[in-house]
Amino acid sequence: MELSLNRIVHNFGSLTALSDVSIKVNEGEILALIGPSGCGKSTLLSIAGGILKPTSGEVVVRGSIPDASLNPITYVFQDFALLPWKSVSENVAFALKHHRLSAVEIERRVTNALERTGLKDFARAYPKQLSGGMRQRVGIARALAVSPAILLMDEPLSALDAQTRELLIEDILDLWRRDKPSIVYVTHNFQEALRLANRVCVLSRRPGRIKEIVEIEIPQQDRGRRDVQPRMAELGEHLWSNIRDEAIIADRELADV
Ligand SMILES: Nc1ncnc2c1ncn2[C@@H]1O[C@H](COP(=O)(O)OP(=O)(O)OP(=O)(O)O)[C@@H](O)[C@H]1O
Ligand SMILES: [Mg+2]
Repeated sequence: MELSLNRIVHNFGSLTALSDVSIKVNEGEILALIGPSGCGKSTLLSIAGGILKPTSGEVVVRGSIPDASLNPITYVFQDFALLPWKSVSENVAFALKHHRLSAVEIERRVTNALERTGLKDFARAYPKQLSGGMRQRVGIARALAVSPAILLMDEPLSALDAQTRELLIEDILDLWRRDKPSIVYVTHNFQEALRLANRVCVLSRRPGRIKEIVEIEIPQQDRGRRDVQPRMAELGEHLWSNIRDEAIIADRELADV
């Protein structure tokens, strides 16, 4: 499925969070959204997911909903949002609660989501027994249980240490290769964007508008190859210089308040 955001403006009272953002997320692509703190990334994602109605502009979803999909547009949050009193499998099953499914179908979906995220052996564990990385895998498993066509990920790895982030980036890429959902991936981290995205959309400081869209033309599986390193470094430098300018100004603006 494709998702188009057309001329999105969003105000919170007198504060303009987003100003005239238009972007299309193509079927099966990973679009990374980066920009300085407070530029409206989460706001834009909430609008894309239909949780927040924009002040003006429209969200258009095109393409047929896959048969298995219970919730075509699904979120993965940074803070996992797991229920501590429920086990891993119960947390995943919780996402299916509102969908009038048979017990067999729930079991099938939960098992499948746990298998795909490497959590099969942890089905009976409780969130507090798990590492941060495993908890976020539960968050991802819960999103996968409803077979989304579009995944909206809001800094899903930012609460994790660098090594765990590295492992989960690989996991996310594996899942993406397998099911090819469209993914909108919000991050502060341009290195993460560089690993994952087909295109990187750089937002300006608040009010967020699109500063640039950078295509990463090298296929994800080749990005670790030695011969593409000069090009990857060039793309990284380009992104960083773009974000750095915005971040410096955003930082100073906040300090002046
Ligand atoms: N419910 C709200 N009411 C009022 N202002 C809000 C609300 N939600 C967000 N804002 C403001 O809108 C702006 C954009 O917020 P948003 O959370 O979308 O930014 P962000 O880019 O996701 O930031 P971060 O990188 O810190 O997650 C910020 O200035 C924020 O304070
Ligand atoms: Mg945010």
